[in-house]
Amino acid sequence: MNVSEAIATRKTVRAFTPERVARGTIEEVLAKAARAPSGGNLQPWKVYVLLGEARDELVRRVAEARATNPMGEAPEYHIYPPHLAEPYKTRRFRIGEAMYATLNIPREDKRARLQFFSRNWEFFGAPQAMIFTIDRAMQQGQWSDLGMFLGNIMLLAREQGLDTCPQEAWALWHRVIRDYLSVPDNEMIFCGMGIGRADMTAPVNSLVSERAALDEFVTVRDEA
Ligand SMILES: Cc1cc2nc3c(=O)[nH]c(=O)nc-3n(C[C@H](O)[C@H](O)[C@H](O)COP(=O)(O)O)c2cc1C
Repeated sequence: MNVSEAIATRKTVRAFTPERVARGTIEEVLAKAARAPSGGNLQPWKVYVLLGEARDELVRRVAEARATNPMGEAPEYHIYPPHLAEPYKTRRFRIGEAMYATLNIPREDKRARLQFFSRNWEFFGAPQAMIFTIDRAMQQGQWSDLGMFLGNIMLLAREQGLDTCPQEAWALWHRVIRDYLSVPDNEMIFCGMGIGRADMTAPVNSLVSERAALDEFVTVRDEA
């Protein structure tokens, strides 16, 4: 598989099969992904890998916390800008509508939408999970480095025949995660990620997200 194929076939998967992935495979992906560039070679990423019972226990703890706090904890960072302007607002709306359309859940059925959204906190069934953190002292540049590390993981997963689901939804359970994994106070929980094999019989995995046309985000100056 070349890079273009890995990029073209990577997509966010929201239903996984229960098939387990060997610990060695996950470690290989992470070791290779850590070749990501970072400003000053700070390598500002940290990842907690949860396999088997360790993953199930986090899911169980969050399910328990949801009983008293169904919408989760106030995140430690703004997942989106507080006032999302155009064209971002429409993009966000469209992906949400497209996703719920694959599930046949109409806009009015808030309960069903929330129920599906809460599958985030089961890693959408992925038997392997990761939680990513970053030192609070890090700035925008280092968050971008962390993004490159995440991108590498998702592409390397494709090379192994695996799929991924990056999940900021886990930021809504930072206290539960911190407590469970003994995450030090200086680390902020950025996101989670499910990794495993896509269940391609699940309608939600038929979703193909849109992208803006090149001229919407590229400015070229080419002066001879
Ligand atoms: C950092 C990050 C966090 C995300 N968090 C979530 C999430 O919590 N739940 C979810 O269903 N999708 C999440 N996504 C997936 C995005 O919705 C998805 O990448 C986008 O709609 C484009 O679709 P694609 O990944 O299938 O190309 C996240 C993606 C990224 C990069």
